[in-house]
Amino acid sequence: MNLPMKNIRTLSIAFFAGFVALSVASHVAHAQSKTGKNGLFPTKSVVIAQKSATGVVKMRMDHMKAMGTEMKRIGAMVRGKKRFDGSKIAAASEKIADHGRKSSKLFPKGSWQNPTRALPKIWKDWRGFTRAMNSMVRSAIVLAESGRAGNKARANTAFIALGKSCGACHRNYRVKKKKSR
Ligand code: HEC
Repeated sequence: MNLPMKNIRTLSIAFFAGFVALSVASHVAHAQSKTGKNGLFPTKSVVIAQKSATGVVKMRMDHMKAMGTEMKRIGAMVRGKKRFDGSKIAAASEKIADHGRKSSKLFPKGSWQNPTRALPKIWKDWRGFTRAMNSMVRSAIVLAESGRAGNKARANTAFIALGKSCGACHRNYRVKKKKSR
């Protein structure tokens, strides 16, 4: 083989580009399968958002994700998939309350550009938004108390109420999956 130098260089550049494309693709596929398993919020747009979000937007997404993880932990116990452990429920609920208390600060004015799913309505109706956050925190505290009391029935009711308080805010202040930008 007697390839001219230029051809060799072009070839190796093409090779490198192909390699980069491949590793990016596998990365994306990995992220997607991870969210797929999570099940609770499995949209493509969320995966993309997580990949490119930075700063305060990334921080609030991380807080939200952490709350989702705790919800799953509690849900498994409340639904009887895992052994009911009131103190674990209390600890998980307190973490949720804590994330909630910190989250309002992570929505500075105007931080609704791509890739966020936060709706501009948050800042038009800041009082409503913070009220929704406070009400979620209160629901988490009620759940923590019923966990500490070891009261399965009350924990069940409180868990459902907490889930509704997450959903109520998402419904009003978060871009719907279908409409994702
Ligand atoms: C007061 C409003 C509010 C409450 C209460 C709330 N969320 Fe959210 N949540 C949002 C907003 C707004 C976003 C979109 C954030 C963004 O994309 O910048 C979001 C995003 C999320 C996400 C996606 C995060 C990501 O990686 O993109 C998850 C998961 C989530 N919330 C879980 C929860 C759970 C679980 C609860 C209840 C325990 C909860 N949220 C309570 C407003 C709220």
